[in-house]
Amino acid sequence: MLVAHLSDTHLRSGKASGPPDMGTAALGRALGHLAELRPRPDAAFITGDLADRGEPEAYRAMAGLLEGLPFPAYVIPGNHDDKRELLAALGPWCPAGPELLPEICYSVRVGPVLAVALDTAMEGSHSGGVSEKACRWLANELSRNRGAPALVFCHHPPFESGMGLMDTPFINDDWLASALREDPAVLLCCGHLHAGMALVWRGIRAVAAPPVSMDMVLELTQSGGGAYTVGTPGYSIHSLGPEGMLSHFRAVPWGWPLEKPSSFKELYGADRPSAANGRAGE
Ligand SMILES: [Fe+2]
Repeated sequence: MLVAHLSDTHLRSGKASGPPDMGTAALGRALGHLAELRPRPDAAFITGDLADRGEPEAYRAMAGLLEGLPFPAYVIPGNHDDKRELLAALGPWCPAGPELLPEICYSVRVGPVLAVALDTAMEGSHSGGVSEKACRWLANELSRNRGAPALVFCHHPPFESGMGLMDTPFINDDWLASALREDPAVLLCCGHLHAGMALVWRGIRAVAAPPVSMDMVLELTQSGGGAYTVGTPGYSIHSLGPEGMLSHFRAVPWGWPLEKPSSFKELYGADRPSAANGRAGE
């Protein structure tokens, strides 16, 4: 069972002012890479900042990329998204029930795993948070799943990254922690930070996915989190095995020679290289 997690695609329409669109090509590349994996992912979640400025054209471009994928894909809003425009173009990839709207929350089963989409985007704010209603819904979903593995996907991390400009307070973090504790097998999967990272937050395993678009410059200071490079599209992929959920973090190759896999055996003369392999005369 494999679940891919992509985040922060930041697709831009041609009409938007500012730098040219980097996200569409990067997302196309990342999805193409995932489609070629064997085994294939059983599902993919894209956790927000789907569009750079909530442009309808960007959501339509994303729909074009998601159509025809050989695995189900799901989307969740981030602080750069316009929820109405997102739902208008990406409804088929966002099975949110009406009861929590305008918060876009839903859950789906991916084999033995409960996958929950939790909306942490608050209209007009860079910061994230959760409502009491969404937390009650989340706790109920997890409570009914108790003992089985669960992935909770959202845009904003409730934890601090060490990059000061990104570490704005998360509204109702205590409620979120208490809802997540309903299921000891939960893994919280966030985006927003434009960097892959992992920690145990208040006893709950949590990861942030590397971004599809715009790698955050690593600057662990109070003024850090203010600069990006074009970088390499990335994603995480969660694999359920006998020891539980294992998270891989990957960068998508952009071209030769990285695109064509090379064999360790050819390089070292052994499948399992050791210090002795390849030394002259040994
Ligand atoms: Fe972002």
